[in-house]
Amino acid sequence: MDSLTLPALTRAAGTVRLPGSKSISNRMLLLAAVAQGTTEIRDLLDSDDTRVMLEALQKVGVGVTALGGNAWRVTGCDGVFPVKDADLFMGNAGTAIRPLTAALALSGGHYRLSGVPRMHERPIGDLVDGLLQIGADVRYTGNPGFPPLAIHPAQVKLAAPIRLRGDVSSQFLTALLMALPLAGEAAVIEMTTELISRPYVEITLNLMARFGVEVQRDGWLRFTIPAGQRYRSPGVLHVEGDASAASYFLAAGAIGGGPVRVEGVGSASIQGDVRFADALRAMGARIEWGENFIEARAPATGKLKAFDLDLNHIPDAAMTLAVAALFADGRCVLRNIASWRVKETDRIAAMATELRKLGAIVEEGSDWLAVSPPPTFQGGVAIDTYDDHRMAMCFALAALGGVAVTINDPACVNKTFPEFFDAFALIAAPVVAIDGPSASGKGTVAQRVANTLGFHFLDSGALYRLTALAAMKAGVALEDEAGVAALAGELPADFEGDRILLSGEDVTEGIRAEEVGVGASKVAALPAVRNALLARQRAYRRFPGLVADGRDMGSVVFPGAAAKVFLTASAAARAERRHKQLIAKGMPANMHALLQDLQERDARDAQRSVAPLRQCDDANLVDTTEMNIEAAVAAVMTIVRQQPL
Ligand code: DC
Repeated sequence: MDSLTLPALTRAAGTVRLPGSKSISNRMLLLAAVAQGTTEIRDLLDSDDTRVMLEALQKVGVGVTALGGNAWRVTGCDGVFPVKDADLFMGNAGTAIRPLTAALALSGGHYRLSGVPRMHERPIGDLVDGLLQIGADVRYTGNPGFPPLAIHPAQVKLAAPIRLRGDVSSQFLTALLMALPLAGEAAVIEMTTELISRPYVEITLNLMARFGVEVQRDGWLRFTIPAGQRYRSPGVLHVEGDASAASYFLAAGAIGGGPVRVEGVGSASIQGDVRFADALRAMGARIEWGENFIEARAPATGKLKAFDLDLNHIPDAAMTLAVAALFADGRCVLRNIASWRVKETDRIAAMATELRKLGAIVEEGSDWLAVSPPPTFQGGVAIDTYDDHRMAMCFALAALGGVAVTINDPACVNKTFPEFFDAFALIAAPVVAIDGPSASGKGTVAQRVANTLGFHFLDSGALYRLTALAAMKAGVALEDEAGVAALAGELPADFEGDRILLSGEDVTEGIRAEEVGVGASKVAALPAVRNALLARQRAYRRFPGLVADGRDMGSVVFPGAAAKVFLTASAAARAERRHKQLIAKGMPANMHALLQDLQERDARDAQRSVAPLRQCDDANLVDTTEMNIEAAVAAVMTIVRQQPL
């Protein structure tokens, strides 16, 4: 796909489960690879940058096995890579090439490391200088100071402290710290400049400690690795959610009302980028912290405040603030961000160019950026992304300015977050929720409204019917809450055009059978079943938007829906419609029995403890007793058009 156009958006609310952290994933992979013993890493990030690391480790003979579900087993080589000669392609993954260069330089083999053209423009000279000081043999095969590199065996000596610059990238220090214990002697690193991006070094030290190696730190100037330590596998490790990725969703919550909750990072996180939430709070956003979640909503006043902040500690998440600045009440200044110039692209230049397209006034310096928000957003612009995942992700927020925004080369998000736009849709794509009692005609009306808007359509009743049918086929009793919920969680159902398949079998008509309807009503009363279907229903929320039909769409599944309709009709009218339908199908029907049945079902539904049938306070009532389908669709469309989606 060359480009992706996000529709004009006005609100964001919902919950996102974050993918694994890139920084933690690649560090854990390297440490597990050089450790003694076998490590199982769970929730590893599945992206280009981690794939680069996994493939490189395999090439140098480390055993890595996929266990399914983003879990990997790494068989540590105890500091000795089995393959002594290899060509390694590192893509544009800084978190892979830097630590691998250091580890391979100490391991007595012949290795050649290269990457994409941009990788060959990203500095690595400070790290190579550090390695040369201890006698490693690392050579530039292209331009001095940059990859590609060639590594050859050499006798390494750790007599004197290694003197290292820390003002271009903290990853050079990270790479040396992780590799030096492999030399088996005491090692000292002295910084010759100020160290930037310190929280990333804290991640490094934290993870080294989990593998049994303690580093003594004197301020941020001197690091000592005492002799006699070696990496030992801690057994099983979990990768936290990606705190940098969290920034896009939290900012969306602060801009688009919220609440938006990210799961997978929180107060227990070891990633410095969680401090992005403090920057949002400085803009007036309301933030809630849990051990494993962070939630953001807009300021009570509704308007975000301008900021002037030193962002050296959160260089990646700071990009999100530059776009959030578009929504502030004045000129915002981002300071101490020189490292942006040597990342996936020159991020200061790229950010300035693209923010200007949206109408912002942008000033840039060597290590700062100032953004004055536009009086009105320039609509219909195409944002270039410079093969930089973070450019694509943070500019998605601009659509919350109420304008359609085109993102060029959206696939660049594969570097760290392949599912980003789907996840963004989960909190930002507009939803029209149509609730109401059985036989109110909401299914037909909702489907037509979806067609009119060009939106996706969710028939939630069909999911309950499919669950009941799956249980009946599998011989699971409909009262067996855990058993039915397990089926609901894995429902092998596909919606192909207007056909509904269950395990590949066409059940479009089958799920409409009377006994399946009765079964659906039973399983729908089981809390565990409703829970099991929740994430599946929410996954229908995609761009450009969703019309969701079912009795609890606006109350439970999409409480933040942009437009809510409660579609009803008198019991008599509904009984009459059902009667007509049955007669038309040549089925026996009794008006009196149908009416009684509906009234009983309404009473049951209104009283049941889970997802009772009720009209939300913020839902618009449409009584279709006196309306035909066309009139009902028109009435719903009038409501939908009254509010910005
Ligand atoms: O709308 P329908 O008749 O296809 O729904 C089938 C059953 O599932 C019905 O008993 C209502 C129930 N249901 C529910 O409880 N919650 C929903 N969101 C949708 C349907």
